[in-house]
Amino acid sequence: MINEAQSRIQSENVAFVCKAIEDYEIEKNKFDIILSSMMLHYVKDLNVVFENVFNGLKTGGQFIFSMEHPVCTAYQNKWIDTNEGKVWPIAHYSQEGIRYYDWFVSGVQKYHRKISSVVNSLIKTGFNIKSIEEPEPTNDIIDKMPELVGHIERPSVLIIKAVK
Ligand SMILES: C[S@@+](CC[C@H](N)C(=O)[O-])C[C@H]1O[C@@H](n2cnc3c(N)ncnc32)[C@H](O)[C@@H]1O
Repeated sequence: MINEAQSRIQSENVAFVCKAIEDYEIEKNKFDIILSSMMLHYVKDLNVVFENVFNGLKTGGQFIFSMEHPVCTAYQNKWIDTNEGKVWPIAHYSQEGIRYYDWFVSGVQKYHRKISSVVNSLIKTGFNIKSIEEPEPTNDIIDKMPELVGHIERPSVLIIKAVK
């Protein structure tokens, strides 16, 4: 993936690092913005990562990230067929921790945590939370891609913007 990214983006302003975020110390007070897309639900200790990101931002810098929505990570099985159609159970929500699921391969490991834990961890780190989004596909998109209809029934992605 790094090779592919490097072949697409060649700029002296861009550096590629292949490391787990837990092992990468972000240079302090350097960045105006730090983005993370659909990665943080694989991280065991969010506090460590949030602190690392906080230190890497300049004052006023923004941290914008998406992660799998806790409503989705709580229950590690699948949709249930009911008389009212397919239902996504929000079971085991309060039991934070490891989950296993199938994503191209079986037994992929991820971590479930409550929304309040994510938000409180940001606040504890010192971030000001600016917005929280739970996007869903529009009707236009559902017309073109009906397989995405489940994402209207329950949120699949949580997006947060926080500022140092
Ligand atoms: C669902 S993919 C998202 C990929 C891409 N960011 C996107 O939004 O299309 C999750 C990515 O998180 C990476 N990842 C998982 N655990 C990680 C960790 N501890 N540190 C850094 N990256 C991690 C995986 O290698 C994978 O590329």
